[in-house]
Amino acid sequence: MAASKKADKARLQQLRDELNHHIHRYHVLDEPEISDGQYDALYDELLSIEAAHPDWVTSDSPSQRVGGAPLAEFNQVRHDVPMLSLEKCTTADELGEWIERCKGLLDQPEKLRLSCEPKIDGVAVALNYEQGVLVLAATRGDGETGEDITANVRTIKSIPLRLSAADVPDRVQVRGEIYIPQSDFEAYNKKAVALGLKPMINPRNGAAGSLRQLDSKITAERPLTMFCYSMGATEGSWQPETHAEVIETFSRWGLRTNPLVRVVADRDGALAYINEIQELRHTLGYDIDGVVVKVNALSMQAELGTVTRKPRWAIAFKYPAEEAVSRVDKVEFQVGRTGSITPVARLQPVFVGGVTVSNATLHNMDEISRLDLHLGDWVMIRRAGDVIPQVVSVILSRRPADAAAISLPERCPACDSPIVRTGDEAVARCSASPQVCPAQRKEGIKHFASRLALDIDGLGDKLVEQMVDQGLIATSADLFALSVTDIASLERMGEKSAANLVAALEASKETTLAKFIYALGIRDVGEATAAALAQHFADLQALIKAGPEELEQVDDVGPIVAGRILEFFADADNLKIVTQLIEAGVRWPAIEKGANSELLKGQTWVLTGTLTSLSRNEAKAILVGMGAKVAGSVSAKTHQVVAGPGAGSKLEKAQKLNLPVMDEEEFLQYLQQHGVEI
Ligand code: IVH
Repeated sequence: MAASKKADKARLQQLRDELNHHIHRYHVLDEPEISDGQYDALYDELLSIEAAHPDWVTSDSPSQRVGGAPLAEFNQVRHDVPMLSLEKCTTADELGEWIERCKGLLDQPEKLRLSCEPKIDGVAVALNYEQGVLVLAATRGDGETGEDITANVRTIKSIPLRLSAADVPDRVQVRGEIYIPQSDFEAYNKKAVALGLKPMINPRNGAAGSLRQLDSKITAERPLTMFCYSMGATEGSWQPETHAEVIETFSRWGLRTNPLVRVVADRDGALAYINEIQELRHTLGYDIDGVVVKVNALSMQAELGTVTRKPRWAIAFKYPAEEAVSRVDKVEFQVGRTGSITPVARLQPVFVGGVTVSNATLHNMDEISRLDLHLGDWVMIRRAGDVIPQVVSVILSRRPADAAAISLPERCPACDSPIVRTGDEAVARCSASPQVCPAQRKEGIKHFASRLALDIDGLGDKLVEQMVDQGLIATSADLFALSVTDIASLERMGEKSAANLVAALEASKETTLAKFIYALGIRDVGEATAAALAQHFADLQALIKAGPEELEQVDDVGPIVAGRILEFFADADNLKIVTQLIEAGVRWPAIEKGANSELLKGQTWVLTGTLTSLSRNEAKAILVGMGAKVAGSVSAKTHQVVAGPGAGSKLEKAQKLNLPVMDEEEFLQYLQQHGVEI
C-alpha cells in the first residue's frame, strides 16, 4: 500500500473513533466537548476520504446513519427470546401481593431486592450486536415476531453502531424503548404545522410512526432516542448477576440508560420511589405511564420464570392514564378579561389524569380548523398534571354522519356586541369595552381577586358572577363598598361567611405596588412586567404619567406593551377605578426607588425544576424586579441557575458549564438577605 493511502486509512479510522466519541458525548451523555461546527468539519473530512475510497466504507461508519434507499416492505424477524409484556397493578396492596408471591416462590426470599425504573411510553425494540457491531434492530411486534427496522434505527444517533468495550460478548441483544423527548415533540409539531404538514398526535405515536417509515431518510429527520433496559439472547462470557449491573454495563458500553434506575429493599422502598417519580413525572422531559419494578437478581428472575408471556419477576405500577376518548357535545365561546373569545369543548365526562374532565380548551378558531373538529366528534383528550385538558386529535373514523362544522359567532355571547378578529391575530375579541360587556367585567374582577393579584380569600368565581349578575358590583372598586348584609343576601352565603369575606376584603387592601399593577389587568402586563414596572417607577402616579419612552426603558416592555399601558391609563373609567381603590384604602409599602432594582442588572438567571414555596412565575417576577433577565435556557452567558427538585437537562447543562447553581433553600436565603419577602 502506498504511504499516502496508508495514511488515509489510518486517518479514516481515527476520524471514525473521534466522531463516535463525540456522537456518544452529545447524544448519550448530553455533554458535548466540541461545537457543531467542529463536528461538521470532522464529518466532512470523513466523507471526503470515504468518497475517494468507497471500498473502505463499513456499516458502522458514522456516515452510514443518514438513511439509505427506501425499502419495499419490512422483513419479519423471529425473536429467539420472546419479548414479553408486563403484569400491571395500580395500588400499594397489589404491589405488596406481587412481592409476597415472589417471596413464596424463592429459595432465599430474605435476599430479594427490587430494581425500580420509569416505564417509558415509547416503542419497545431489540438490538442485536455481533462482535460489537449492530447487525439487526427489530420491533416487538406480537412478542414472537417483529419487523426488521435496522435501517431506521441506524439513523438514531444515541444508538451506537458499534460497542467497542473489551467485555462486549460475541452476541448480545439489548432491549429498550425508543421514544421522542417532549421538547423535541413540541418543536417538531410547531415546525410541521408551520410547513402545513401533519403534526404528530403524541410522542409515542410519533415514535411508532417514525420507526414505521420504509424510507429511512424520513426517520433520520425525527428526534428519536432510546433508553436501554434489558438484555435478550446473549452468547459469550458476560455473566451479570443483577439487573442493576446490566444497566451499569450497558452504560459503560456506550448505550443510553435511564439515570433513575434504583434498587430498593422492599414494598415501602418501591412505593417511595413510585411516589417520587409521580411527583417528577411532568419534569422528566419524556412521557412515562408508570414505574417498572423488577426482581434485581438475575438468578432469582430465572427461578421465578415466566407465565403466559408475562415474567413473574417484574410488574408495572401504572399511573392514571393521561389520555382518554370522549365526545364533544357542544362548543361554547368564553369571553376573557380583555374580550378574547376562547372556544371551549363541552365533553361527555371522562376520567383522565386522575380526575373527571368535562371541558377542554380549544384555544382559538385556528386550532379548531387544525383539528378539523366538528360537533359530535369523538376526540382524544389529554390532561397531564395541572395543565388544563386539551383536545389532542379527532377520531375521524368515528365521526357521525350529522357532525356539524363549528363557526365563530358573529356577536359576543355576553353582550351581543360584534366579535372582531384583527390582522393576523389568532384570537377573536368582543369589540365592546368592559363597561358594556358583563363577561369582561366578571373576568376582570376575578383576576383582581386572584392569588397573584389582591389574593382575596373566599371570593371565588361563582360568587363574583353572582355579584355582577345581581348588580351588587360593576367594578373591582365596588367590592370594598360591600356590607355583610349585601353579601349575605347572595345564594349559599350565610352571615358568617359574609362576615369572613368582608374581613378578607379588608385584609387584601394591604398589598404591594407590583401586585396592584398586576391586579389592574392591563392587557399583556403579567406578573413579571408588573414587578418590573413597580421597581422602575416606585410610585403609582409616576407610572400613570409616564410617556412611551420612559415605559420602554423598563425590561420586558416594548412598544406594544407600552401602548397597552398608555391606553389603559388614558381611559377615564380606569382612572376612576384606580382612584376609588386607593380611596377605599388599598395601599402598599413605599418602595425605596432602586433599592434592589439594580442589584441584578445585566444578569441572566434561569429557573428550573419545581419550587415549593413560590411559583416559578412569582420567582421570575421577583428576579425581574431586582433587575435580572430570566431566560428559559442555560448557556455560557447564564449568571445563576436556581434548581428545584426534578430539574433535568438544564441543571445538567449548568453543571457541565460550571455555572453557579442554588437550590430553593439557598435562593430563599438569598432573597431574605436582600429584604425580599415571600
Ligand atoms: S422491562 C418482560 N422496563 O413496557 C418485559 N419495559 O408492558 C420486560 N416498557 O413491552 C420489559 N419501559 O415496551 C421494561 N423500563 C422499562 C420499560 C418497559 C417501558 C414497556 C416495554 C414492554 C411494555 C410491557
